[in-house]
Amino acid sequence: MSGEPSSSNPMNSHAIRLLSPEEAAPRLGQLAALLAEAVEGGASVNFVWPMTASKAEAWWQGALASHARGERLIFWAGSDEELHGSVQLVLAPQENQAFRADIAKLLVHRRARRQGLGRALMQAAEAEARRIGRTLLTLDTETGSPAEHLYAALGWTKYGEIPGYATCADRSRRAAASFFYKEL
Ligand SMILES: CC(C)(COP(=O)(O)OP(=O)(O)OC[C@H]1O[C@@H](n2cnc3c(N)ncnc32)[C@H](O)[C@@H]1OP(=O)(O)O)[C@@H](O)C(=O)NCCC(=O)NCCS
Repeated sequence: MSGEPSSSNPMNSHAIRLLSPEEAAPRLGQLAALLAEAVEGGASVNFVWPMTASKAEAWWQGALASHARGERLIFWAGSDEELHGSVQLVLAPQENQAFRADIAKLLVHRRARRQGLGRALMQAAEAEARRIGRTLLTLDTETGSPAEHLYAALGWTKYGEIPGYATCADRSRRAAASFFYKEL
């Protein structure tokens, strides 16, 4: 794999790389499996149960097409063979926001959590955003989720909450969302 950045966590197998479109395409199955695993574990990332491989693959096909058009960057955390986590920088397409990007689909496999990988992925995405001149980042997440703690710990500013914003993965209720930004 190629790619500039970015950082690595203490475990060598957790090295973080930017994927090129040519590298990402054959990895669709692993990327989709990571997304499905997160939703099955209850993560609120735009899907509800039952999660299926085909829903995850369809989402990633769209993301990879967008990646190939240069609209987003995709980070891979793991070895060449094994994927432990991923995050994306979605570049704002608006002419008057050419300095902004959204953070999307931060995912760490349950087997690899609480080892610093989510933090390392975010730091890699922020470093790359700074490098390419995207100095205002935005994101939203389920209020009270582990991710909300992570973003706060990384110095993101929470600017609001919308109640009942998204159905939880297990369909049990509609949860609030927290909205964050970070100036780099
Ligand atoms: C959110 C997520 C990416 C965090 O990944 P991770 O690799 O476990 O996070 P890290 O080990 O880097 O944790 C960094 C910090 O985040 C916070 N944090 C992470 N998980 C937490 C949890 N379950 N509860 C409270 N704080 C948590 C802590 O401050 C932690 O620092 P510490 O371990 O020194 O206390 C992971 O839980 C995940 O993939 N969740 C499902 C998908 C998801 O919700 N993605 C976000 C969508 S917006």
